[in-house]
Amino acid sequence: MNQSCGTAIVVGASSGIGKAIAEQLAAAGWKLGLTSRKLENLAETCARLGDRALAKAIDLDDPDAARAGLRALADELGGVDLWVLNAGTGILNRDFAWEPERQTIATNVMGFAAMTDVAVHHCIARGEGRIVGISSVAKKRGHPFTASYSGSKAFVSLYLDGVRQYLRRKAPRVSLTEVAPGYIDTPLQQFDEAFWVVDADTAARQIIAAALARRKHAYVPRRWALIAALLSILPR
Ligand SMILES: NC(=O)c1ccc[n+]([C@@H]2O[C@H](COP(=O)([O-])OP(=O)(O)OC[C@H]3O[C@@H](n4cnc5c(N)ncnc54)[C@H](OP(=O)(O)O)[C@@H]3O)[C@@H](O)[C@H]2O)c1
Repeated sequence: MNQSCGTAIVVGASSGIGKAIAEQLAAAGWKLGLTSRKLENLAETCARLGDRALAKAIDLDDPDAARAGLRALADELGGVDLWVLNAGTGILNRDFAWEPERQTIATNVMGFAAMTDVAVHHCIARGEGRIVGISSVAKKRGHPFTASYSGSKAFVSLYLDGVRQYLRRKAPRVSLTEVAPGYIDTPLQQFDEAFWVVDADTAARQIIAAALARRKHAYVPRRWALIAALLSILPR
């Protein structure tokens, strides 16, 4: 079944890819729960969407509070058909300073696992649902100035691989889509050497399509599958 409309939570909906996903889902008639660390970052979107969107302040760097907040948002929505686990951070760290490394790992690893925990148990309890987790092509190879980012996205992808196998046993009607975007034009993208850059709307369209088709993996845009394959075999 290709569910075209229902309820969705977008974690990290205030900017970039998450904001574009929220706007496209809203336009298609979905009822939404949106999160950001600060409610004011969601104010403009929520004002436009009226009673079709609920907003909640959730900081992934406090994983226990984030889990409680996400569960409360899911309850307020009366159940969630689609979970978009999108929030993440990436910091160019040319000096290998500790704070950016710690921050990236806290948000993208522990924070990501906290989001996943809530989505997985919610879907198992309902016996159905779709979960989308946003990784990155960066999972394929380390980078001298974003070591923690590449490492955290490798975690995200392998973690989701195991979670998908768990779900297959526990709740086979729950799908899990791991998305690896290339360079997307958002505030997070800071590389001067970026190429094949696409806008957040294009990425959002492809991510939603992959989720609705219950794909296991998706490169966004698709041509990044070629780069990912090359990164696996080319010498450094
Ligand atoms: N842009 C790219 O080229 C690219 C490529 C590959 C993968 N990705 C991935 O795509 C996802 C979205 O990134 P983006 O490019 O759209 O970046 P973005 O515009 O900076 O958006 C990041 C979102 O995550 C939220 N967020 C960040 N830290 C958070 C925290 N500690 N707790 C809760 N929410 C937090 C932000 O909300 P607030 O700041 O309002 O709290 C914002 O809504 C990320 O996982 C990123 O790694 C991006």
